[in-house]
Amino acid sequence: MPLDLTQLFPKEEEIPAAYALAEEVHQRLYLSDGKMLPWNGNVHTVLSPICVATPDGLKRKVIGTYPLCEAKEAAAALDAAVAAYDHGRGEWPTMSVAQRIERVEKFTHEIIEKKQEVVKLIMWEIGKTIGDSTKEFDRTIEYIQATIDALKDLDRQSSGFTMEQGIVAQIRRSPLGVVLCMGPFNYPLNETFTTLIPALIMGNTILFKPPKHGTLLFYPLLEAFKNCFPKGVVNTIYGRGNQIIPALMESGKINVLTLIGSSKVANELKKMHPKVNRLRAILGLDAKNAAIITAKADLKLAVQECVLGSLSFNGQRCTALKIIFVHRSLADEFLSQFTAAVNQLKFGMPWEDGVSLTPLPEPHKPAYLQECLADAKAKGATIRNENGGESLESFVYPAVVYPVNAEMKLYTEEQFGPVVPVVPFDDLEETITYLIESTHGQQVSIFSNDDEEIAALIDPLVNQVSRVNINCQCQRGPDVFPFTGRKDSAEGTLSVVDALRSFSIRSLVATKLNENNKHLLNEIIDSNSSNFLSTKYLF
Ligand code: G3H
Repeated sequence: MPLDLTQLFPKEEEIPAAYALAEEVHQRLYLSDGKMLPWNGNVHTVLSPICVATPDGLKRKVIGTYPLCEAKEAAAALDAAVAAYDHGRGEWPTMSVAQRIERVEKFTHEIIEKKQEVVKLIMWEIGKTIGDSTKEFDRTIEYIQATIDALKDLDRQSSGFTMEQGIVAQIRRSPLGVVLCMGPFNYPLNETFTTLIPALIMGNTILFKPPKHGTLLFYPLLEAFKNCFPKGVVNTIYGRGNQIIPALMESGKINVLTLIGSSKVANELKKMHPKVNRLRAILGLDAKNAAIITAKADLKLAVQECVLGSLSFNGQRCTALKIIFVHRSLADEFLSQFTAAVNQLKFGMPWEDGVSLTPLPEPHKPAYLQECLADAKAKGATIRNENGGESLESFVYPAVVYPVNAEMKLYTEEQFGPVVPVVPFDDLEETITYLIESTHGQQVSIFSNDDEEIAALIDPLVNQVSRVNINCQCQRGPDVFPFTGRKDSAEGTLSVVDALRSFSIRSLVATKLNENNKHLLNEIIDSNSSNFLSTKYLF
């Protein structure tokens, strides 16, 4: 049946009141040095991926504007973060862990109050379904709570002394300094906070630049940052990344760069720092996760998981399955079941019940995906599902492309959208070679019911990627699991516990164990005069 996209986008009056934004959000304040500063300069107009049907045709709905600050404001925010850190002597980096936890708990309570506003903005800014936008908010709150619990554990483990070779030491984790934090558009709240919150709670001070798509949703949260943390501890920077970020890096005052985004940008930014050895980078970058469906796979299960893995949130997850290798003997059957399952996916506006395919926020993406499809077709592939690749404005109907080969863009490029390249293979060695040669190394999914075959793949593949999934799609969660990657896919490890380690360094206080030093240590501990050297136990 031909695809009728003419009714896809609503007229203004057809947007259900419960999901409409009460009003456009025109942000004219930003948080820097503990103050909400007014902005009277240029602004960026935020266009939703959701279009509205008007007498003049489809128009992306304007949902608001935000400040386009410049290098001067970014430099002032950097100065504020540097001053708040004060070479590790600031109020925040020297505060006790218990007090920092208290502040983060207060922050959590305040942002929960803003849930409805933030969830709606996620939906309008990036087109994520209302259900997934809500999940993103809830997952973020759970992540913060789990981070607090993990820090309490860590602190309890560090509240004792270690004695070795006549030396006594207390070993704890200390902050690193000023953290420049930039999150991605696809999980603008969650992935930003999975770096920002651990960095913050460990005593660092923060410069935070919201993603280009997914900016306004932070506006309702700025007051909570201002209310809960000492001035200069969290500072926001708005503006064009390429205009404001280079000078920050070149200043040499950034101690940690944390970016969830592209490896190209991360590469360039790191090189701008004048003292590379002083810079720690915690990065979540590109990925091209493969599914490998062997001749011994449960096909029904593989289809279910591959649909979820490749098309949840329109394929815009760093963990999405971005290429599917299927044993040639199963290829026809796989394609028939897979395209039938794709056919069942409901497309529409993100507030509609049961919808899973929605418009895309990146304006250039529909054209880029068409370019990938044209390239694949020119090199011998066809689109196997009916209507695959049809598009209207910001919406692209998923395309299942087969047979994809090494000459095509889709073989190596991270499409980050609703296009599913399928590659036939004869020998499992071909799939291992693909992963060895790939510039990415995040995760892989193996589909097979043969234990020997799976075992033979696990050993080579754990040394190519950082997570091997058996009979299930790739994913980040549960968030307590380590999330990282090899090659151009990541630097450092995130998880509730690992992130606390990533944003801190072990420091210790040590002395020779003699009567005089014992007395000194006891005096310091009894008088509670140090937050570091302390045996206080956090419950
Ligand atoms: O975009 C990358 C996200 O961290 C993926 O998280 O696997 O839970 O969707 P997810």
